[in-house]
Amino acid sequence: MTYINDEIIENIKENSDIVSIISDYIHLKKSGSNYVGLCPFHNEKTPSFTVSSTKQIFHCFGCGEGGDILKFIMKKENVDFPDAIKLLANKLGIEIDIEDTKNSTNKDEKEKIYEINKEAARYFLNTLERNKTPLDYLAIRSISKKTRRQFGLGYALNSWDSLYNYLKSKSFSDAEIEKAGLIGKRDNNNGYYDKFRNRIMFPIIDTRARVIGFGGRVMDQKMPKYLNSPDTIVFSKGNHLYGLNLVSKYSNRKRILLVEGYMDVISLFNSGINYAVASLGTALTERQSKIIKRYGDEVYVCYDSDAAGIKATLRAIDTMLKVDLNPKILLLPDGMDPDDYIKRYGPLEFEKLFVNAYNYIDFKIHQLKSEYKIDTLEGKIKFTTEVAKIIRNVKSPIEQDIYIDKISKEVGITREAIEKEIRGNNYNKKSFNYKNKDISEIKPVKSALPPAYYKAEIELIKFMIKEKDYYHYIIERLSIDDFNSKECINIYKQLNILYGSQEIIDEKVLFNKILEIPNLNKNSIDSIFSNSTKYQARDIENIIDDLIKTVTTNNLLMKRDKMLKEIEELEKKSRNAIEDEKFKQLCLDLIHLNNKINLDN
Ligand code: GTP
Ligand code: MN
Repeated sequence: MTYINDEIIENIKENSDIVSIISDYIHLKKSGSNYVGLCPFHNEKTPSFTVSSTKQIFHCFGCGEGGDILKFIMKKENVDFPDAIKLLANKLGIEIDIEDTKNSTNKDEKEKIYEINKEAARYFLNTLERNKTPLDYLAIRSISKKTRRQFGLGYALNSWDSLYNYLKSKSFSDAEIEKAGLIGKRDNNNGYYDKFRNRIMFPIIDTRARVIGFGGRVMDQKMPKYLNSPDTIVFSKGNHLYGLNLVSKYSNRKRILLVEGYMDVISLFNSGINYAVASLGTALTERQSKIIKRYGDEVYVCYDSDAAGIKATLRAIDTMLKVDLNPKILLLPDGMDPDDYIKRYGPLEFEKLFVNAYNYIDFKIHQLKSEYKIDTLEGKIKFTTEVAKIIRNVKSPIEQDIYIDKISKEVGITREAIEKEIRGNNYNKKSFNYKNKDISEIKPVKSALPPAYYKAEIELIKFMIKEKDYYHYIIERLSIDDFNSKECINIYKQLNILYGSQEIIDEKVLFNKILEIPNLNKNSIDSIFSNSTKYQARDIENIIDDLIKTVTTNNLLMKRDKMLKEIEELEKKSRNAIEDEKFKQLCLDLIHLNNKINLDN
């Protein structure tokens, strides 16, 4: 039997978001604080399958199925617990070594640190409420009491041992408190001192409401301005984002905004923007980018508008691209950060930044333009070389084309020159850079479509048998080619004949005709002629519409699959001019098809 230690399970659950993972299987819609969709475990027409983002569980009020994300995967993928873990880890891009059961950090030890952190946060919070200086400081920075509480802000006294003494009074040991990163050993090895002194304290809280670390800011010009907890067994900076706990609780996940600082997140939240997170004072990591990807459909970056901020933005973009995130960039006036901006101009003006957001390519090109003197020949050449590198990585051939055009016009370099630069020696071979990666991104998600879909065909056929009106209604919307099941296609044909001369179908006659046709699946025929599902008469039209939609959507998805295969094939080979045209056309068609699929859903 495979043994998976709790550590791994913990880590995987911690890093998975049930809403985004279940969304890979079925379409979920936000409904109040939950998400709802059609249950994948029983056949239904109106959604009773509910997913709670805060509780990280699902429940179906129709069939009673429910549990956490691992339960969902076990059930949906029909796998046992260890395989569900592996599957989930794989989805999340987390490497796990199932066999490695030694070397695991003790779970109790972690629990202890969470406890200490929570106690410390409580202590800082209470201390803040009793001290005018830090309260005034926050007031000057326009942080409301409500916001202050939501972030659990606190204050560390200007003392060498007040936190230490407090935690000792709560019976934590020196070693434990030290492991939480809150105290350090004194030089003479004579006792401990508080690391955070005279600072506004920002607890860093994970999505499961555990305090994992702290940031602390001075209230004057002293250095360092910010001090962060060191990495501990419950905290590694590159794995977390500041503010994610509130984003996961409040945001509708349409947008997520990455900013630089604690105060940016807080100030934005204070002004009603509940979807900002900050990487914790370090360069954005791939791990953080993957988390970001799960918490917003559209990703924006708004770093400080200074040289360092722009450099950091360029780096963040590259990291995000590695995990297939295409961010957009909000540009602030020189020298400002999001906190300054929203305080000076207000949330409405801030909202306008989104309208004017740069896509990352434009942003990069914009930066290059200010870097090189493009009015000189040398500048132009350097600029073109750099721009070519960017465009080379643009996945959509159509987009590539647009940028080549744009730059050619802006800088006065011929299209051919830019194209040559982009394609290097492989001019013919690689004239379009439609990477496999991109294809997998737009591939339909693996889902329960086939069974649900066959069921839909069967249900439709049943309606067609039952009443001529339904038959007419359905054939107006679905042709015989829209059906995929051989059984259904044959019955459709028979119905065309039978309804030509009669109003009511004698099911026995039809049944016998169908049985004469060779190679049909007995089970499917059985389910078509078995007792029909009972529907409320008044719902029937909606039900039929839903079924039709299931069938048409599935057909579009299958068509898309086929197109993707063709694109992949064409992409692999060196194409002649005709094939290249076909390739471009296919890519365009694919975009249209994708839009259609998205619009319909
Ligand atoms: P305010 O000055 O309070 O508005 O903060 P800010 O967010 O504008 O600060 P800044 O742009 O200087 O820094 C952005 C982020 O970088 C901070 O939120 C910290 O996470 C981190 N940071 C800034 N200064 C320091 C520092 O001195 N030490 C460490 N470790 N991190 C820092
Ligand atoms: Mn600031």
